[in-house]
Amino acid sequence: MASRTVTKALVPAAGRGTRFLPFTKAVPKELAPLVTTPALEFVVSEAASVGITDVLFVVNDEKQAPIAAYFSPHEDLAAALEKKGDEKALASIRRPEELARIAYTHQTDPRGLGHAIGCGAEFAAGEPLAVLLPDDLVDDRDSLLGPMLDVYAEYGGIVIGLLDVGIDNISKYGCVVPAEGADPSADVVPLVDMVEKPKAEEAPSTLAILGRYVLPPEIFAALHETDPGAGGEIQITDAMQRLIHGGTPAHGVVFRGRRYDTGDRLDYVKAVVQLAVRHPDIGADFRAWLGDYEPEGGD
Ligand code: G1P
Repeated sequence: MASRTVTKALVPAAGRGTRFLPFTKAVPKELAPLVTTPALEFVVSEAASVGITDVLFVVNDEKQAPIAAYFSPHEDLAAALEKKGDEKALASIRRPEELARIAYTHQTDPRGLGHAIGCGAEFAAGEPLAVLLPDDLVDDRDSLLGPMLDVYAEYGGIVIGLLDVGIDNISKYGCVVPAEGADPSADVVPLVDMVEKPKAEEAPSTLAILGRYVLPPEIFAALHETDPGAGGEIQITDAMQRLIHGGTPAHGVVFRGRRYDTGDRLDYVKAVVQLAVRHPDIGADFRAWLGDYEPEGGD
């Protein structure tokens, strides 16, 4: 039987970030600061906290250098901070370097999330793979990937994070079909099907796929056989559906904790505010300022 211990994770980060231009002309969207820490560090940290030791970033040609700089030692800066005795800043620059072993692969042709994940076949090398989308951040006080790995250890197959987003939002996500008779209030839901970005009136449920996946090695063959779907892109949802139809078990872990969405501009700004409010250094002052802030005419 294939190993049920998951030590590898893939993080897709090859998108051009056009919704964040002009910023993304020079800096990858995934390195935009959420107060002081970029989304990429949050997801690698989340993966490391549940025992992932190896992370593959799927990047494009321009993004590898700045991302690699963030996750590599910076000796000059470290020496300068040491000289100043700034232990806190020193620890902060060392943190991303120490979280996991990082590797990179290039997605030269942006053909969708399924295609990006397919770039990880060699890295996975026949082992199961966790996938974390850096647009979806899970608060470090709550857990999702840990329980997902437990479900994977028990059942194998596909395990995905789920979020009830309601009927009004479901068309923006992959949507799942729970098994008949599955308890809708349970934390772990067996799944019989899924569909990418259904119209609200055709959505089989209001349970959306959150950007956390544990995928079995067979996903790569399924991706290979998957034609472009929603938006003309190769969809991971379609490849998972193919496996499910072929008899692979699939389970969803319903997330009821705090999450931050950094996928578009409005959500990104909301995430910055949510994280600033609880920031150890500036949280109290920011909360006080926010309480007094008057959007019309305020400064
Ligand atoms: C992707 C997936 C979708 C999932 C979503 C979660 O969509 O294709 O199934 O629900 O991530 O954030 P995207 O946000 O890339 O359009």
